[in-house]
Amino acid sequence: MKLLITGINGFLGRHLTNYLAGKGFSVTATGRNNVKGELLNYVKFFSADLLNTHQSFEMVNELQPNVIIHTAAMSKPDECEQHKELCLQTNFEATKTLVNAAQQVNAKFIFISTDFVLGEGENHTETSTLNPLNFYAQSKLMAETYIQQHLDNYCIIRPVLIYGKHIEGIRNTFIDWVQQSLQAGKQIKVVNDQFRTPTYVDDICFGIERIISLDKTGIYHLAAEQILTPYTMAVKIANHLQLDSNLIIPVDENSFPEPVKRAKRSIANIDKAKAELDYLPMSFDEGLRKML
Ligand SMILES: NC(=O)c1ccc[n+]([C@@H]2O[C@H](COP(=O)([O-])OP(=O)(O)OC[C@H]3O[C@@H](n4cnc5c(N)ncnc54)[C@H](OP(=O)(O)O)[C@@H]3O)[C@@H](O)[C@H]2O)c1
Repeated sequence: MKLLITGINGFLGRHLTNYLAGKGFSVTATGRNNVKGELLNYVKFFSADLLNTHQSFEMVNELQPNVIIHTAAMSKPDECEQHKELCLQTNFEATKTLVNAAQQVNAKFIFISTDFVLGEGENHTETSTLNPLNFYAQSKLMAETYIQQHLDNYCIIRPVLIYGKHIEGIRNTFIDWVQQSLQAGKQIKVVNDQFRTPTYVDDICFGIERIISLDKTGIYHLAAEQILTPYTMAVKIANHLQLDSNLIIPVDENSFPEPVKRAKRSIANIDKAKAELDYLPMSFDEGLRKML
């Protein structure tokens, strides 16, 4: 089974590459820049800028993957709001190109979308009405729609607030930011009026592995079940690391200037993944214990 994973220098892309290569899949990972940090020596690297249609087609034609897992994206909602054209090119047009290339070589296409397409509310299932609240989410929904209209052999994954072990060379996560700030004795303000189900990256990797090995298609919510705010997450991180949680100040989202619109409470129902994939995500405390 030959896999092509986009986003080798991204947080999920690198974790997924290491995880699936470790499970014996033949993995080629792609990025537009040289590989940051160390790559497992049995993973192949293919350099391509996904905004370059020609490069994307050439890559897929040359590699002839059985499965393409598309994690690369412009993933920060604030940047998407500020640079809408680039966001559309990256999250929608580049995905369209990969979908068309996948169609040509008969590859399964696994797209990493986001819980942000769900909008406000509890218990969103894979068939709930979608309500993207910002441009990032709209661009992801456009990609989801194109995939569903053009492919049969596809999966759309909607993860929620991904966290996991730091990998050298790969961007910092919320956990790194909290840890580094508290270690430096710095006070931090953290939002306490947005509720999410933060998801341990290995759980998402497991869910994707199951999708591939069971040859599943359709939409899956790969999130966790424990509902937390970024503030309650930060306090747990401090407690796990025995750092001073008094440095963490709870604030509401309006205390940040011109915030991108985000759901106050966006909770994805994961019953489908549990029933069909034996997906059993860990709690935030379990995830922290595993990674720290
Ligand atoms: N992180 C979360 O909490 C979260 C939650 C829900 C959904 N998601 C989705 O999950 C996926 C992975 O997220 P992540 O946090 O791992 O993202 P990330 O760390 O920001 O990584 C995204 C990667 O995409 C690459 N990329 C962007 N434009 C590209 C282009 N034109 N050509 C080639 N590569 C390009 C970037 O390359 P460079 O390194 O060269 O810039 C980067 O390595 C994304 O699709 C995101 O929308 C993430």
